[in-house]
Amino acid sequence: MIGLLDRLARPFLRALDPEDAHGVAIKMLKFAPLPPAPRDDKRLALRVFGLNFPNPVGIAAGFDKNAEVPDALLRLGFGFVEVGTITPMPQPGNPRPRLFRLDADRGVINRLGFNSQGADAALKRLVARAAAGGIVGINVGANKDSPDRVADYVQLIERFAAVASYVTVNISSPNTPGLRNLQQASVLDDLLARVVDARERVAPNAGPTPVLLKIAPDLSLGDLDDVVGIARSRRVDGMIVGNTTVARPPNLLETATAKEAGGLSGRPLFPLANRMLAETYVRVEGVFPLIGAGGIDSGATALAKIRAGASLIQVYSGLVFRGLGLIAEIKNALLEALEDDGQDSLKEFIGADAAAVTAEPWPK
Ligand SMILES: Cc1cc2nc3c(=O)[nH]c(=O)nc-3n(C[C@H](O)[C@H](O)[C@H](O)COP(=O)(O)O)c2cc1C
Repeated sequence: MIGLLDRLARPFLRALDPEDAHGVAIKMLKFAPLPPAPRDDKRLALRVFGLNFPNPVGIAAGFDKNAEVPDALLRLGFGFVEVGTITPMPQPGNPRPRLFRLDADRGVINRLGFNSQGADAALKRLVARAAAGGIVGINVGANKDSPDRVADYVQLIERFAAVASYVTVNISSPNTPGLRNLQQASVLDDLLARVVDARERVAPNAGPTPVLLKIAPDLSLGDLDDVVGIARSRRVDGMIVGNTTVARPPNLLETATAKEAGGLSGRPLFPLANRMLAETYVRVEGVFPLIGAGGIDSGATALAKIRAGASLIQVYSGLVFRGLGLIAEIKNALLEALEDDGQDSLKEFIGADAAAVTAEPWPK
């Protein structure tokens, strides 16, 4: 059923403007009669952040920004879904066009700028599906014109904790001017102190809610030292490495589109994202787990992410080019790797190559 839908839809979606195609994909997921996801092989299950993941393959933030289709996405076989980024107030984002495919590079550039229906709309949907189960993380961000961005994060955690499997504090979008300054040490320390405090305040009613920090792959290693140090001292539960990059690798083929402003994702992001993941892993020293995102478009790149330090992985751009078959392809490749290695859990792979990756020449 899923394979058929995918095969029918992809040529049509590829012919559309990328943002229109995304809108159509969300509508299809809303209305397609999807069967429940088949049970995953037990060897793919992992307990991370105190949550039981049926498999480690998640869909990254930005696909379902307004929490319209989390259950359909779980039915497609994702082990978890991250909805958002959700901002407190509705906002339109940047003017279109703001989403570009770099077909020859298998990359995407976006400068959406947190287009969001706002917290009320998303919360209503998430409350309505709260009993449905499955792991649904909620990615939160500040409004562009907010007078107090830290207060935006605090407010969203208070409001969403009860319906979130985990909350991601997204301070790494390149498309909201000044947002990434929240990664600076003094600001970040205050932000995380207040965010963790908010989580504690609502925990008696909302239950325990892991708080994750999503960072940019463009941090310098000195900045990464600070960010990891603060994340550790403020006791966040994990980090996502990472968001899109403002860098443009020199070997991109789609040179005209590459000049568009925005964050680059997909295959060209993989080397940098994987390096930053490994650099983060060696700094975290096992204190909390990491989610790896950036450029996963095959079983091999998924396994490489886990070996570089990811307990869980997330995909987005790879789905644009590979379709929904990518989910099963990754799971099969991970099972094959377990068999080849005589292991019965992915735990053995997590971070196995981190030190080696950090010793490689810096990726271009
Ligand atoms: C169109 C698009 C929109 C995105 N929107 C968000 C977002 O709202 N919040 C966020 O944290 N990341 C967002 N991202 C970043 C992804 O979650 C992910 O970190 C990044 O794309 C790297 O993964 P990929 O190479 O598999 O796409 C977006 C990415 C794309 C391509």
